[in-house]
Amino acid sequence: MKILNIVGARPNFMKMAPIIEAMNHHPGKIDHLLVHTGQHYDEKMSKAFFEDLGMPKPDIDLGVGSGSHAVQTGKIMVAFEQVCLKEKPDLVIVVGDVNSTMACTITAKKLGIRVAHVEAGLRSRDMGMPEEINRLCTDVLCDYLFTTDHFANENLRAEGIAEEKIIFVGNVMIDTLLKHREMAAGLDVTGRLGLERGKYATLTMHRPSNVDDRGIFAGILNALQKISEALPILFPIHPRTRKMAEEFGLTDFFNSGAEVKGIRLTEPLGYLDFLHLNMNAAMVLTDSGGLQEETTVLGIPCITMRHNTERPVTCEVGTNVIVGNDPARIVAAAQNILSGKCTKGQIPEKWDGKAAERIVEWLLANV
Ligand code: UD1
Repeated sequence: MKILNIVGARPNFMKMAPIIEAMNHHPGKIDHLLVHTGQHYDEKMSKAFFEDLGMPKPDIDLGVGSGSHAVQTGKIMVAFEQVCLKEKPDLVIVVGDVNSTMACTITAKKLGIRVAHVEAGLRSRDMGMPEEINRLCTDVLCDYLFTTDHFANENLRAEGIAEEKIIFVGNVMIDTLLKHREMAAGLDVTGRLGLERGKYATLTMHRPSNVDDRGIFAGILNALQKISEALPILFPIHPRTRKMAEEFGLTDFFNSGAEVKGIRLTEPLGYLDFLHLNMNAAMVLTDSGGLQEETTVLGIPCITMRHNTERPVTCEVGTNVIVGNDPARIVAAAQNILSGKCTKGQIPEKWDGKAAERIVEWLLANV
């Protein structure tokens, strides 16, 4: 069986790494190539992750880079069509919900190639989120839908997807977390940054809904500044967030890194360093998707600064709370955690480090 594994943006890498590893456990049965679309290309957004995760260098790099949604999606489709025509795969595997995920799915399906989606069925029901459009387009086209939780199974059923296409395997991103947890625990990133374990928060924020409107962005930063008076916040800033903060003249909110106080910026961090920082944090503030799941498994309180989540299982059984972008609610949620009012949570079903193995075994038996 010849398979093309697709990655494009930072959150894809930790999802694909365990799938490649599981495929390598079956030599001679699967011939697989890794295709990087180049959606993320900075050293810190891409290469550092390949190194941390021990991933092989991509066999094929489409090098598409940044652009508007249409430009980026179109460029990926044009380049990936040539790859499909040359390589003639039996199956394409896409992960997550980024533009690369949808672009490669559409391209392969139009050439009559089967496609499997790993992390299928997540729904925020928010069509203002580019990722929701990517999820819907990808899932409706895919032949095999590997899911992470019961909400995803129910969403797909409700959309009329045939039962035999829905395969509940667990969470590949958690495979990666569990594999690297001990290694990350042994690092001394906190010491290097002068942080005291359990006495700081980490922050990630890059969603257009939070950083593309000056009023909303400034409101969130005001809330974060208040929180940081009690608890320093470490903020590895995403390139698009940095760009917007500079454009809006909001960089005065940040401590550029010299002191352990306020909202302290760093460059985007590698996988292991960031895992170390999150596992030792008092809380995590974020608008990311994956971090809601990682904090649930780590048992670290998570405040999600969004109006909805495509990952409700992290609120149902995990440590996540959804607070939107209202400054007062963000501050209140942090105060709640600081006063010890938060649950440890539990780990969702099948988030046990074996999701990728289940996927590969299913493919070998059924495709
Ligand atoms: C993408 C995903 C998002 C994911 C995020 C994680 C989509 C629609 N969005 O958002 O779901 O949560 O990745 O990071 O696919 N840039 C760089 N260097 C890079 C990559 C990007 O400087 O290596 C800057 C560019 O200015 C670019 C901007 O970031 O225009 C946005 O990049 P893009 O890939 O379009 O989307 P993200 O916001 O990163």
